[in-house]
Amino acid sequence: MYSEKVMKLFRHPHNMGKIENPDGLGKVGNPVCGDVMYIYIKVGKNKEGKDIIEDIKFETFGCVAAIATSSMITDLAKGKTLEEAEKITRDDVADCLEGLPPIKMHCSNLAADGLKAAIADYRKKRQAK
Ligand code: FES
Repeated sequence: MYSEKVMKLFRHPHNMGKIENPDGLGKVGNPVCGDVMYIYIKVGKNKEGKDIIEDIKFETFGCVAAIATSSMITDLAKGKTLEEAEKITRDDVADCLEGLPPIKMHCSNLAADGLKAAIADYRKKRQAK
């Protein structure tokens, strides 16, 4: 039921793990199944002085689709400005994975929401400084 690409990333996910002292941390739970995902980001500057996602890692306690979508979103977000990264939708993630079974689309929400939560956390921390 999964595409080749999903299975490949599930077996060999990219950017899996933790970043110590991240600039932003997003924790999201999937209300449908109870699975949990953490997204860690390090923020740097690009040549124009804009905030970009310099490094990103994930820890996901979930299904095949959740691991593959986490891996895909980290690849999509790396090097992007925060504004660009925020615009990544669950459909972008699913499209890059050559589709997900309809009953698994809720799992791809976790990745998109986790990234948004990590960016929101970074902004909140920066404002507090
Ligand atoms: Fe829980 Fe997919 S079934 S994230």
